[in-house]
Amino acid sequence: MEKLEKFTGIYKIEDHIATENLNIGCKVYGERLVEFEGKEFRIWESRRSKLGAAIMNGMKIFPFKTDSKILYLGASSGTTPSHISDIAYNGIIWCVEFSPKMMRSLVELSRERKNIIPLLEDATKPRNYLHLLEKVDSIYSDVAQSKQSELFMENMRLYLKPEGIGIIMIKSRSIDVTQSPKKIFSQEEKKLKTRGFKVLEKINLEPYEKDHLAIICKFAF
Ligand SMILES: C[S@@+](CC[C@H](N)C(=O)[O-])C[C@H]1O[C@@H](n2cnc3c(N)ncnc32)[C@H](O)[C@@H]1O
Repeated sequence: MEKLEKFTGIYKIEDHIATENLNIGCKVYGERLVEFEGKEFRIWESRRSKLGAAIMNGMKIFPFKTDSKILYLGASSGTTPSHISDIAYNGIIWCVEFSPKMMRSLVELSRERKNIIPLLEDATKPRNYLHLLEKVDSIYSDVAQSKQSELFMENMRLYLKPEGIGIIMIKSRSIDVTQSPKKIFSQEEKKLKTRGFKVLEKINLEPYEKDHLAIICKFAF
């Protein structure tokens, strides 16, 4: 077991990464639990989480701290949010998800993890949840749809602190299946750069996820 120095709250166990379980004895998505020196860790399955894949592929900028305030777009049933919840145990993660089915699992998860706040909302309409959250340190977006960069930027403009960090997981096939992923990635990166954001890092998610790119950015000013 080794603590990854660059990353708050992430450990290396054999060939896997892991987070310390905030909810002892409980699994979220069938992941393996490992005991070490009186603590319990949850193996972070990199094939089930794009953030896990990005870390495995050498991500350098990792914005989440123990007390971070985070807006998470496209939370689904909470696989990746649960690991962020382990890391930001003194913080808050507002999880936006528009599928009522996924929201049911997310609500269950939020009963066990007090730093997760589920919001049944549409991430393309960020003004609808203006009254429900405050400015955040980071925005994480994993919403597989054609206007994913646009909704990410709109949420950043409304909710990200000036010095905050945004992470978007771009799925090229959701934008245009007929174009090469490389072309889509460069088109989406250009959108961010021409609309006021500075790209800090890009990470291809192969072999964990096909045709996905993680982009980490901040405001350009
Ligand atoms: C790829 S899954 C997210 C997986 C999750 N981020 C994880 O790693 O555990 C994408 C999710 O985005 C949700 N979604 C798609 N469009 C959305 C929108 N406009 N607003 C909110 N959620 C949306 C889908 O319902 C789906 O659950």
